[in-house]
Amino acid sequence: MEYQIKPAQGKLGILIPGLGAVATTVIAGVEAIKKGLAQPVGSLTQMGNIRLGKRTENRYPLIKDFVPLAGMEEIVFGGWDVYSDNVYQSAMNAKVLEPGLLEPIKAELEAIKPMKAVFDKSYVKNLDGTNVKEAATKWDLAQALMQDIEQFKKDNNCTRVVIVWCASTEKYTEETAVHQTIEAFEAGLKNNDPNIAPSMIYAYAALKSNVPFANGAPNLTVDIPAIVALSKELNVPIAGKDFKTGQTLMKTIVAPGLAARALGVRGWFSSNILGNRDGLVLDDPENFKTKEVSKLSVLEEILNADMNPELYGELYHKVRINYYPPHGDNKESWDNIDIFGWLGYQMQIKINFLCRDSILAAPIVLDLALFMDLAHRAGMDGIQEWLSFYFKAPQTAPDLKPEHDIFKQLIKLQNTLRHIMGEDLITHLGLDYYQELVEAL
Ligand SMILES: NC(=O)c1ccc[n+]([C@@H]2O[C@H](COP(=O)([O-])OP(=O)(O)OC[C@H]3O[C@@H](n4cnc5c(N)ncnc54)[C@H](O)[C@@H]3O)[C@@H](O)[C@H]2O)c1
Repeated sequence: MEYQIKPAQGKLGILIPGLGAVATTVIAGVEAIKKGLAQPVGSLTQMGNIRLGKRTENRYPLIKDFVPLAGMEEIVFGGWDVYSDNVYQSAMNAKVLEPGLLEPIKAELEAIKPMKAVFDKSYVKNLDGTNVKEAATKWDLAQALMQDIEQFKKDNNCTRVVIVWCASTEKYTEETAVHQTIEAFEAGLKNNDPNIAPSMIYAYAALKSNVPFANGAPNLTVDIPAIVALSKELNVPIAGKDFKTGQTLMKTIVAPGLAARALGVRGWFSSNILGNRDGLVLDDPENFKTKEVSKLSVLEEILNADMNPELYGELYHKVRINYYPPHGDNKESWDNIDIFGWLGYQMQIKINFLCRDSILAAPIVLDLALFMDLAHRAGMDGIQEWLSFYFKAPQTAPDLKPEHDIFKQLIKLQNTLRHIMGEDLITHLGLDYYQELVEAL
């Protein structure tokens, strides 16, 4: 397949539903980086390298020099929130970044004021905002979002826009009839079907506006047949769900290592305390359930009990999240891992990660925005499974098991970049080097 990638010309708008801790950390970060005040650490697009060709060729360009991505200077931010605080005020409230870092970019951040949100309290009980759109139907709300996108594009002179959902986790829901086809979904928008969540209205409006949509929270959103079909029909990429940060990031680094060494795992107890607004929302059991399902899926896939019942058949996996305001955005997690080795002898691993959630999530938002824009310009539509690297619960085609192992996810991402750029894929076989040596003798 030949990819004709359109050049990244003009401004790229990154629109974010939910201008809270994660969103303000990425926006402030990009503005600070533009001014040379900080480095984009943790961003694969900005600081990661990719090997091309044979190991002997020594070609390891930066990813941003290999694929045509939008430059930092070309990015413009905007978004929606149920609170009317501008991005500077919201960043100050979130307390992720130091006031000293925010001061030199205060004017840029104050200029970004949230548009009125599409919000339904029955999906997020613990929030009460007033910066909310009023309309008779969900269909009208979708039209209003489309107008917002169009207006933003015009006002900021953008050639392209992408959306990354950074709003609160919605309550746990499962697919119903209204999610099955585009026709059923559109009828549901018109008759206010309660099973259509606000995040789905944003996703629908994005696709109808030719705007790629990535979902950073664990809610269903784009992970329903109607939205998948729409993204194929309109040739717009989608991706999700739930940014892979903190504890799950560690899990998908450590578990593949244990499985690689054929070590057994009997138990994995994960607990977290966090005190930001995300923690407050997750304090409601219905919203916690959405997160729990997303977090639990990871180990089951990496430590496949069906394939290896002797090693993983007894695995007991538990995840707890507790709201603890004094910690703010500085989440603390503890993992107790009961493993066993040769002849069944038991061992334990303890991980105590004092992480900063939004510091880990911000570069993911930036990378997703840039890669989704690249995918769109390359003519890739539907589910972008090659971006699984960034998600706790990667979206896949129906009946296809997601890949959770972070190392396999990275190989897939890099090979996709090589593929669309017409470079050889890398298998890591390496036997040809030795064959060449033999032939040279
Ligand atoms: N921080 C991380 O490491 C991380 C990791 C994975 C997923 N996430 C998810 O990312 C999201 C954002 O996290 P955060 O820490 O920034 O939370 P946050 O509470 O600071 O920000 C979320 C913002 O979304 C707003 N909001 C809620 N519903 C909205 C709607 N319908 N439209 C527009 N705005 C709405 C809230 O008012 C809030 O300002 C959450 O869903 C969280 O679960 C975060």
